[in-house]
Amino acid sequence: MKLSGRTAIVTGASRGIGRGIALAFAREGADVAINYRRDEAAAQATAEEIRALGRRAEVHRADVADPAAMATMFEAAASALGGFDVVVANSGVASRTATVVDTEYDYWKRVVDVDLNGVFLTCKLGVPHLRERGNVIVISSIGADLCAPFGAPYYVAKAGANALVKVLAKELAAAKKRVNCIAPGMIATDMGNKLVAALGQGIVSTIPLGRIGQPEDVAAAAVFLASDDASWITGKILRVDGGVFM
Ligand SMILES: NC(=O)c1ccc[n+]([C@@H]2O[C@H](COP(=O)([O-])OP(=O)(O)OC[C@H]3O[C@@H](n4cnc5c(N)ncnc54)[C@H](OP(=O)(O)O)[C@@H]3O)[C@@H](O)[C@H]2O)c1
Repeated sequence: MKLSGRTAIVTGASRGIGRGIALAFAREGADVAINYRRDEAAAQATAEEIRALGRRAEVHRADVADPAAMATMFEAAASALGGFDVVVANSGVASRTATVVDTEYDYWKRVVDVDLNGVFLTCKLGVPHLRERGNVIVISSIGADLCAPFGAPYYVAKAGANALVKVLAKELAAAKKRVNCIAPGMIATDMGNKLVAALGQGIVSTIPLGRIGQPEDVAAAAVFLASDDASWITGKILRVDGGVFM
């Protein structure tokens, strides 16, 4: 097992990609703290699956954009698990479809609050609890490169998250702590499925490998980056996208 004896915290692990990462980490031997915002039942279900694998699972409710709730969560989770070998900033929300001109300022701020400020808070509050040679993984999106029309808050926040990864990687390299990012393409989760429904199934033909990704595709990359197999890799944005960007 690649993460035997390790501990991790994963934001947004009640559903989707975060759940997939939390379960994959547990299968590789890690104890995992699960963060969620709304869906307590789903978070508890992820935790039960992890316990069934023989690992410890902690469940913590916190909006990643709420600094006080995040500080409370990180203190509690770090003290329960004895610090973290891996901190995963995964929580995110999609943007509604609108031009920049038609985007309400309050709506812009809310998306950036979750998708960028939430990543900042996860890094700021998680890094002090990293164990020796621990690492951070941020989940951004190929949207950061796509910068398509009608989704500015999401794309801009994800591009900011990519930049934050590079800055933090440089800041932590001397301490032998690594920071990497996975930028997924279209993944079959609640968020991804809504996007496919909006864009139509024809979108699949634009993916060179001919299928939508699964949370497990992202989770496998996260296990690699979290493990010692990636001990000489930091500051990278790894696109897991079926070949959309080559
Ligand atoms: N699916 C895709 O196609 C795709 C593509 C590229 C990038 N991504 C990125 O991958 C990450 C996970 O996406 P997903 O597809 O798994 O989404 P999802 O199925 O909608 O799940 C989102 C997760 O984030 C949590 N969350 C949302 N807002 C939160 C907040 N303010 N505070 C704490 N947790 C919050 C949710 O928890 P609750 O349910 O408890 O609220 C849930 O666990 C996101 O950063 C997303 O931008 C996804």
